[in-house]
Amino acid sequence: MPARKKIALIGAGNIGGELALLAARRELGDVVLLDIPDKEGLAKGKALDIVQTGACDGFDARVTGTSSYSDAAGADVVIVTAGVPRKPGMSRDDLLTINLKIIRAVAEGVKANAPDAFVIVISNPLDVMVYELKRITGFPRERVVGMAGVLDSSRMQAFIAQAAGVSVREVRTLVLGGHGDTMVPCLSYCTINGVPVGQILPKDKLDAIVDRTRNGGGEIVKLMGTSAYYAPAAAAIAMTESYLRDQKRMLACAAYLDGEYGFKDLYMGVPTVIGGRGVERVVEIELSSEERAMLDKSAAAVRELIEASRKL
Ligand code: APR
Repeated sequence: MPARKKIALIGAGNIGGELALLAARRELGDVVLLDIPDKEGLAKGKALDIVQTGACDGFDARVTGTSSYSDAAGADVVIVTAGVPRKPGMSRDDLLTINLKIIRAVAEGVKANAPDAFVIVISNPLDVMVYELKRITGFPRERVVGMAGVLDSSRMQAFIAQAAGVSVREVRTLVLGGHGDTMVPCLSYCTINGVPVGQILPKDKLDAIVDRTRNGGGEIVKLMGTSAYYAPAAAAIAMTESYLRDQKRMLACAAYLDGEYGFKDLYMGVPTVIGGRGVERVVEIELSSEERAMLDKSAAAVRELIEASRKL
């Protein structure tokens, strides 16, 4: 009998719980929710709650909670949300010191227990966290990726759909660069069913949407007192599904750059193809001179944070 795929979620908080529910609902595999010993009850409780929704929703997936990495052994996919989220007034970069310690411990656990997994990192500051996880696990770049671009692009898609009064399904956006204030929403690649968005919305509206996209996470933190979880989870599940079902979707993800776009030894948001071999390709596209300048600035900001992390 073919075995189901195994998905280990490291961090059973707001995003971890939503990831577990979406993965189970889509029957992507059996789910292990892992958190620290103090939160083992939370992980087990959420797992039980989700299993019990299976009866109403009609899905078959084993969902379990734990604080032991041995339960994540042999996972096909690992999604990392372990860490502290933002509070109002904080930037993602403010989380560096505390979340760096956490990602280092997680990386050791993943390396020892799930050496063949495809790993998606969500913890912030994202580009540094994913860089650190790759450094410690030594996994190839095809198997370590950061979730940011899909989320930032989704936010921009939603804003454009609302402004233009069209279905969000018709809107295409691409947000590149680091997952922070310097991210690069690429208007030159933004279309409504292939029609350049500049033909449909005026420049001042588009500029406001670019700004709102950059602050999309902060807008929610300010409202809720903690960071978003539905859209971040949905974005990571789209990446997971593309990997497990070899869909080869072209998605903006934080990928390890080894010369692409002129950057080396850096993680940053770029268009990638996610398929059965993981990050199968980094796609290099033309950028306007303004977008190129913004990407350079964003890369410099990510590099600065990586340098800071080396001293911690
Ligand atoms: N191992 C496993 N889990 C851990 C560890 C660890 N070493 N350290 C902390 N955690 C757990 C916490 O106990 C908590 O349950 O990570 C969970 C994080 O959940 P939330 O606090 O609800 O945060 P969430 O909203 O899910 O965001 C997680 O993703 O988007 C980013 O900025 C966000 O860095 C944050 C992360």
